[in-house]
Amino acid sequence: MAAQILVASNRGPVSYVPRDDGALDARRGGGGLVSGLSAIGPDAGALWVCSALGEGDREAVRRGVSEPGVKMLDIDAAVHADAYNGIANSALWFVHHMLYQTPLEPVFDAEFRRQWTAYRLYNRAFAQALAEEAADGAAVLVQDYHLTLVPGMLRELRPDLRIGHFSHTPWAPPEYFRMLPDEVAEELLLGMLGADRLGFLTWRWLKAFQSCCLDRLGRFDVLGSWPKDEAPSVRYQPHGQGRPHRTELGVHGLGADAEFLRERSRRADVDERMAALREQIGDARTIVRVDRTELSKNIVRGLLAYRALLTEHPEWQGEVVHLAFAYPSRQDLAVYRDYTAEVARLTDEINAEFGRDGWTPVVLHVEDDFARSLAAYRMADVALVNPIRDGMNLVAKEVPVVSDAGCALVLSREAGAHEELGEHALTVNPYDVSATAAALHEALSMDPTERAERTKHLASAATALPPERWFLDQLAALREL
Ligand code: G6P
Repeated sequence: MAAQILVASNRGPVSYVPRDDGALDARRGGGGLVSGLSAIGPDAGALWVCSALGEGDREAVRRGVSEPGVKMLDIDAAVHADAYNGIANSALWFVHHMLYQTPLEPVFDAEFRRQWTAYRLYNRAFAQALAEEAADGAAVLVQDYHLTLVPGMLRELRPDLRIGHFSHTPWAPPEYFRMLPDEVAEELLLGMLGADRLGFLTWRWLKAFQSCCLDRLGRFDVLGSWPKDEAPSVRYQPHGQGRPHRTELGVHGLGADAEFLRERSRRADVDERMAALREQIGDARTIVRVDRTELSKNIVRGLLAYRALLTEHPEWQGEVVHLAFAYPSRQDLAVYRDYTAEVARLTDEINAEFGRDGWTPVVLHVEDDFARSLAAYRMADVALVNPIRDGMNLVAKEVPVVSDAGCALVLSREAGAHEELGEHALTVNPYDVSATAAALHEALSMDPTERAERTKHLASAATALPPERWFLDQLAALREL
């Protein structure tokens, strides 16, 4: 049956893990999209198109094993690696998060062009699968920087569809976006503008996208519009002729899933993890961070700020513990492996410098354990969320929702979540280690009543747009066009 609603993303809602006996275990993932899509129910004729990622997934496709409502594409592994590691994670992720160490990188050479060709093939495979599966006039919601060319490719194949694209990352400012080779920047922007509607997590990212179009697509008579009585949009004349094409832009700030978090964080396994952590750290105050070990998360400067706190305010020595949960990610890339090693090295250094019998200043955990993360959320006195740049950052939104006794939030002004939470958080410039240390001190010293009051406000702002509504709003906006 052809689908009425389609979602496309690199990582899908399920992955397959081979068992010893040769069978495949299906593991369902969580996240905003999964809960968003579940809101429309299984009978709505929805289909999620995603990529086979590991050997288990590829084997599932070969055996014809699948979950209802999910179509996995077995794209050539080398093509996927070039598109995912080469273009998506090493170029586009770096551009949007402004992560390049510019005197040495990026280098856009023949190798990059080769990878870009793979990225194009990868996007084409998605566009073709979507074109085959979509019912007449269906709504298609394409996700993220892995699939920026899909909207344009799909429009050519199926002009009848309503096509949306959502960016879960920040968008680079035009001065930074200019680093990309001209023809790549143009292809990428035109690919996205193939959509009827583009969604962003904040106004800041939306405006940056619009500015990049004005800056880079000059030869297409681009007009960024921002009228008061109309949604923002980008209009352009495809190839300088024909009817101008208009793509509407919208902001949908994904919020925390309060119902799920409150229920999940009260289960026995979370209580057990809390008891174990208390056993480990005694009754010390806690500064908590929970991240993937991702370059943009700024874990190293977070540790430096904590060290500065212990130096500037020795009264906290022995009284506070930094619970740093940093779960390794993208370990195929050397720069991520090096960063992960640096986090461990600096942790050891701080512990050697300040630690003493009965007090370990930094407790670093690297094995991903959701129940333990929730335990840390509940017991945090202070949450440290200091990314260099972040599309939204859901940790900042989740902690206040599950906190037991109130938690002060030290929050980077460069996180998308700051647009909604800034008023009740302690705002920091993520590069300023001294200012971050001062904010940690202020957070630890905050009067408990004020802390609880702020936490209440943070939780209500954080849950304003739960995943179901976030998803349904986008669908409705796309259908209204
Ligand atoms: C984060 C980002 C998403 C991105 C995802 C990719 O969650 O916010 O924008 O799609 O990472 O992660 P992966 O592990 O699939 O590379």
